[in-house]
Amino acid sequence: MASDKIIENENLEKEDLEILSEEKIFQKPKKVPIKQRQNVIEIEGFNFYYNSGSKQALFDINMAIKENTVTAFIGPSGCGKSTLLRSINRMNDLVDNIAVDGKIVVHSKDIYEKGMDVVKLRTEVGMVFQKANPFPMSIYDNVAFGPRNQGISDKNILNQIVEDSLKKAALWDDVKDYLKDSALGLSGGQQQRLCIARAIAMRPKILLMDEPTSALDPIATLKVEELILKLKNEYTIVIVTHSMAQATRVSDYTAFFLHGELIEYDRTKKIFTNPKDQKTEDYISGRFG
Ligand SMILES: Nc1ncnc2c1ncn2[C@@H]1O[C@H](COP(=O)(O)OP(=O)(O)OP(=O)(O)O)[C@@H](O)[C@H]1O
Ligand SMILES: [Mg+2]
Repeated sequence: MASDKIIENENLEKEDLEILSEEKIFQKPKKVPIKQRQNVIEIEGFNFYYNSGSKQALFDINMAIKENTVTAFIGPSGCGKSTLLRSINRMNDLVDNIAVDGKIVVHSKDIYEKGMDVVKLRTEVGMVFQKANPFPMSIYDNVAFGPRNQGISDKNILNQIVEDSLKKAALWDDVKDYLKDSALGLSGGQQQRLCIARAIAMRPKILLMDEPTSALDPIATLKVEELILKLKNEYTIVIVTHSMAQATRVSDYTAFFLHGELIEYDRTKKIFTNPKDQKTEDYISGRFG
């Protein structure tokens, strides 16, 4: 068996070797059929209010998100996509005078329960924003920032985390010779991949992405989309997008929101070919929004 492997490897072309090394970085797709995967996020009767309760942004949201899948949140501007996304790692806590009721359970823990460690939650549930927001420091320091904050100071370990994270974010080849350069000198698409690397460096289990490609050109967008498809083997990803094409390219499930309500949530293919609700049909066919 072992010798077979060696002979096989000798016949590999350069291209195969690249794929091999990529496999070491990216995990292989899970064999478990999608329907049998575990729920990692469970949202139950969730309501969200801004302005001390005077503005309700989400109404009785119920949905479960399965592990190692990509879920797209779609819907017209102001329908509550970002509010729900930011509720999953309690990023909304940073907004004054908000209130919630109902539950969001992440890895079997109700994250709004008293005593929840929000810092730990945000480590497990990483976030990538619409506008790339690298810190004004070197590329290396951007990626090492989170792990250093967690108390990792060993240079070799940090080097390894930085390299792995940049590889997973498909940015390593672009920047490996410029790690000490300022992150602000990168292009928009590179900066967004750097922010993905920075999120990955924290070893999250879930990645939330709020319109991560809306400021990128088509080529940079494609790179990020390819990356999402690779990363879902290791992470559970929730992405907000205004692009129907993007939702169909990257997601397994799609949730359609309107005026703070979840109108329809199903396999992406079903939503885009045979939705149950007329409002979904109207939205995806471009009749409003
Ligand atoms: N900080 C805030 N204070 C008060 N109201 C807010 C705040 N942030 C959002 N809202 C309101 O909550 C509702 C949902 O907003 P949200 O940002 O979640 O929508 P969205 O679907 O992400 O829209 P877009 O596609 O434009 O990003 C909107 O009516 C918005 O005006
Ligand atoms: Mg938004």
